[in-house]
Amino acid sequence: MLPSFERLLKIRGGIPLKGEVRVQPSKNALLPILAATVLAEGPCRLSSAVPLRDVENMVEMLRRFGAKVEWCDGGIEVDTTDVHPQTIGRELTGKMRASVLFLGPLLARFGEATTDLPGGCRIGERPIDWHLSGFEQLGYETKVEDEGVVHVWGEGKNRVVHLPGVSVGATENVMMASCTQAGASVLNAAREPEIVALGNALSRFGFGVTAGDSEVQIAGGKPRGGEVEIPSDRIVAGTWAAAFLATGGEGRIVGYPHKDLRAFTALLLEGGARLEEDGDALLVLKSPRLKALKFGTGAFPAFPTDLQPIVSALLTKARGKSRIVENLFESRSNHLNELGRMGARSWVDNRTFTIEGVKQLQGALVSSTDLRCGAALVVAALGACGETLLQDRHISRGYHGFIASLESVGAQIEVCR
Ligand code: EPZ
Repeated sequence: MLPSFERLLKIRGGIPLKGEVRVQPSKNALLPILAATVLAEGPCRLSSAVPLRDVENMVEMLRRFGAKVEWCDGGIEVDTTDVHPQTIGRELTGKMRASVLFLGPLLARFGEATTDLPGGCRIGERPIDWHLSGFEQLGYETKVEDEGVVHVWGEGKNRVVHLPGVSVGATENVMMASCTQAGASVLNAAREPEIVALGNALSRFGFGVTAGDSEVQIAGGKPRGGEVEIPSDRIVAGTWAAAFLATGGEGRIVGYPHKDLRAFTALLLEGGARLEEDGDALLVLKSPRLKALKFGTGAFPAFPTDLQPIVSALLTKARGKSRIVENLFESRSNHLNELGRMGARSWVDNRTFTIEGVKQLQGALVSSTDLRCGAALVVAALGACGETLLQDRHISRGYHGFIASLESVGAQIEVCR
């Protein structure tokens, strides 16, 4: 039986992309900042935010908590003055992992929060035990009921949390839960650029947060509204670089966050890609067939897991055998099955993937099983011979105006339904 999908994309491969694209604002920076507006207790403006499906879901959750949210010219206006803690229903929280990020800010503001266990991309187990451990270390009580309802309540009287493992979401949640405690610190914190963006937003909202190191420090302060600029999406920027390379094209990617993508850019250079830094843009020049590569994913500043499927798509046509170790998510290999339908040769041994490059992929009927799998299949299809039919229900969760932007650089894509 075919998996459910909401649109069918017909992609004609083999056309070298050429031209300029601008990177959209970051989904994974915006989602926690939307949750953090709860702490501002007033009007906030998140400029340059774009209406991705995950963002629309997060906005709907904010509204159910009582926030006023309006899309405005070039961003979102949120007023969280009248927010109150309440359960908002599994049909929404089940759609995305980031729904769990409301726990931290609600706890800091009201001393209680309830949610259903979150959903999200099926790329591994993705428990929330480190989030709960962080809340408990702060002094809160936690309870997860059999039906998956999570309750956290009490008083956050402690100031130091040592997270059991490095996690983006747990760091964000516990940072927000500790925000109202002057002198608080979160140890063993993740250092992703999205954590830095959240720290900057929390500082705008009055809390003096320093993030980006393995220790997050909180000076504390009084809540206030404020304006926050959402930074460029590093994963989307990387997807664009891969799309130009897969088609043997050349282009200029404006708003390429160089310092957030060092590991990714260095890997492509090692494979023989011709890339040049041009101010805040990356130039992708006409490149030879890539060499096989060996790399592992890891927490920032190591190679980002979200770009692993996308680089896998590129390596299906590289010269020789590549080896990838997926260190973050235990089942992030679904894209390899789908790429196999297009003629890619790969083997999965637990978390280690071997990809033997072939000269050419052939268009085929494929399905996106998660967001980055969808992006990887688009990259592969653009560089393949013939037509690919992609059954998709994920790409619009994270890529804004993707099809129009691809068309603007010469891709032939049709939305068939
Ligand atoms: C964030 O997910 C991103 N999502 C993911 O992007 C990204 O892949 C991931 O970070 C890693 O960079 C958002 O920002 C909304 P983690 P998150 O907690 O926070 C384990 C995309 O495609 N862990 O850093 O859920 C976990 O199972 C998405 O845009 C626990 O064991 O990731 C995983 O193995 C997909 N217990 C590892 O840590 C916990 O309590 C890293 O996960 C929490 C995490």
